Amino acid sequence: MTDAFPFSAVDSATALPNGEAPAPLGSDAHKRLFCRTLLDTHDPYRPAVIDWPKLDEETRGKIVSLPIWDMAVATEGRAGINVGTYGEEMADPLLREAIALDAYEERRHKTVLSHMVAAYGIELAPEPPYPRPRDPEWAFMRTGYSECIDSFFGFGLFKIAKDSGFFPPELVDTFEPVMREEGRHILFFVNWVAWWRRTMPWWRRPWFELKVIAVWFFLIWERIDMAKGMGDNSKAQENNFTLNGSKELGVEISFPELARICLAENDRRLAPYDKRLIRPRFVPAMMRLALRFAGGKKAGASA
Ligand SMILES: [Fe+2]
Ligand SMILES: [Fe+2]
Repeated sequence: MTDAFPFSAVDSATALPNGEAPAPLGSDAHKRLFCRTLLDTHDPYRPAVIDWPKLDEETRGKIVSLPIWDMAVATEGRAGINVGTYGEEMADPLLREAIALDAYEERRHKTVLSHMVAAYGIELAPEPPYPRPRDPEWAFMRTGYSECIDSFFGFGLFKIAKDSGFFPPELVDTFEPVMREEGRHILFFVNWVAWWRRTMPWWRRPWFELKVIAVWFFLIWERIDMAKGMGDNSKAQENNFTLNGSKELGVEISFPELARICLAENDRRLAPYDKRLIRPRFVPAMMRLALRFAGGKKAGASA
């Protein structure tokens, strides 16, 4: 497999609207804007040439024992097939190219991880199969919304790992492109949802909205199920690194503090992109609500 993304002729034919030209949700300009934003911010790094920094034994040991690697590899593997399959059925050439790039980047994340696993001697459980989804739209939405949850917490935990020195600076630099990509993916995804629900035939809309609700229930159920399996080691792997992540990183941190870091990082990572694009709202809104219940007046202010 070549590890560069093959850009097509769609590029030159679909320039972004000029300057601050309006791009109302669901318009052609909106579609061009969210597709071009993903395509034009692509970073063509090659996983094969990443020079994995040499770690001292203590740091390597801590990284190896993080209970996330099996889950991370499987999630990226599933994301690649879920996103890729949906892209294949796209008639619109620009959407097709953008979704193909999204899938390519997911496959590349998996390649990055497998190189890292090899470099540091992390032992993985056998990988699960990644079957082609029967309902590509459902699969695309499952991956998209799941990334909206996981990236939100991932951004905050990455910041904690960086600030606490758990991840040495060289490793932070190596993973930074992956984090940036997840930010671009969720931005693309929520704009696709907004565009698609406004442009689909009216009779498809109720079914689509039911699917959105079903995906959220599924993802919440999946996380509750993982949390229940905490006592069981294999489940703990998959489990809520997002809930327990800061402990795994050796940092004692209160929920309001964690939530504030996640909110701030989420805002920071999504800030550079065009203001006409919408941002993921549901998970940040839930966190702000939770912060209010946690009695965090200060928390709300800095979020
Ligand atoms: Fe990914
Ligand atoms: Fe992603």
